[in-house]
Amino acid sequence: MSNYKIGLGVTGGIAAYKAVEVMRALQKAGCEVRVAMTRHATEFVQPLTFRALSDAEVIVDDYDPENSDPIAHVNFSQNIDLLLIVPATANIIAKFANGVADDFLTSTYLASTAPVMIAPAMNTTMWEQPATQRNIARLRADGVHFVEPISGELACKTVGTGKLEDVENIVRQAMSLLVQSPKPKVQSSDDPSIDIGPWTLDLTGEHFLITVGGTREAIDPVRFISNHSSGKMGFAMAEAAAARGAEVTVVAGVTAVEPSTHINVVRAISASEMHKAVSERLSDATVFVGAAAVADYAPANAADAKIKKDGRETMTLELKKTPDILAEVASRRHDGLIVVGFAAETNKVIDYARSKLEKKKLDIVVANDVSKPGAGFNADTNIISILTADSAEDFSIMPKREAADKVCDAIIKFREEHGR
Ligand code: CTP
Repeated sequence: MSNYKIGLGVTGGIAAYKAVEVMRALQKAGCEVRVAMTRHATEFVQPLTFRALSDAEVIVDDYDPENSDPIAHVNFSQNIDLLLIVPATANIIAKFANGVADDFLTSTYLASTAPVMIAPAMNTTMWEQPATQRNIARLRADGVHFVEPISGELACKTVGTGKLEDVENIVRQAMSLLVQSPKPKVQSSDDPSIDIGPWTLDLTGEHFLITVGGTREAIDPVRFISNHSSGKMGFAMAEAAAARGAEVTVVAGVTAVEPSTHINVVRAISASEMHKAVSERLSDATVFVGAAAVADYAPANAADAKIKKDGRETMTLELKKTPDILAEVASRRHDGLIVVGFAAETNKVIDYARSKLEKKKLDIVVANDVSKPGAGFNADTNIISILTADSAEDFSIMPKREAADKVCDAIIKFREEHGR
């Protein structure tokens, strides 16, 4: 069991009841959880609920004369491996960002040296407010990790971003952060098979290098060639691998979405920049995933100045082949590196995917038919088939994050069967 100590901060939002589920899941994963609540949180869930389930005092106000420990915020904050806030209101985010310490939870934040992870939940307008986003950016710069809220129907009956992430994903991300933290206070775990209940960190010890998003190839300083890749599938791969304990580095081109904060992202916009960024980082990787839609061709001579029409009716652009990052990684692979490619096709999906596997000497190919509804570039779902030299498995439509977990399963299976 993991034996981490977690300080769970609960703040005043409808989603406060979900903190109970988060606490239970963390306990199942072997963590000891102590709960601190803001006064407003107690309007939504009684401290007694947490007290009964955690078998420990729940601290709301450390100036309360009934409080057995007069410096509880210091003792609490310095004896935890992670301060996890579920749910976090815009108010607590604003207070943390500005160093306000007017109650137990805010004082704990200031007095803690443990990593901090915040799972916000609020109305979309409050989430999108420049003030909230400014506070989040400030906290990110301070090293705070966020479990991004998801899109869905909110308590106010509107649909938009601001819904608390699923309990399972919050717990996965919290456990992943704990395992990746360089110096866990209570107990370090170098054991790749560490048992944390249903959230098995079966990719601990692997280092994923993943290309994500589309590349942009300059024609001149104002124009470019690109594609519709959103980066959703690649980031889903990164998040799935990180949640299962892998160290993850993403080399991202142009993306329409952002990853959760505990993933290391290097930006590389053109195919040649991406090629360079991958080459520089490959030696540390144990798994390479080419999820980016890399342009196959780029303008042969990008103009230094904006190209003028000059009365021309037609124009020819000469293109030259870009480096095939995936093929190069596979052909120069070091011992132990597993190489995974993606094949986005519109016809003869399996045939083309298999020929990519063979031609590029890949270990695994993830094929999808991008012409199918629910499997396109910007969709939140995907319909994948996973191919290896001697197997092929088709999956039905599922969220990209779930599809990413299927790919992770295939990587683990490949490692078990082939050792590399
Ligand atoms: N890829 C890459 N570098 C390139 C081109 C592609 O790393 N310059 C990777 C992609 O990340 C993806 C896979 O190769 O994993 C896609 O294979 P590819 O044969 O390039 O697919 P298409 O671009 O669709 O090519 P084709 O038109 O030949 O099907």
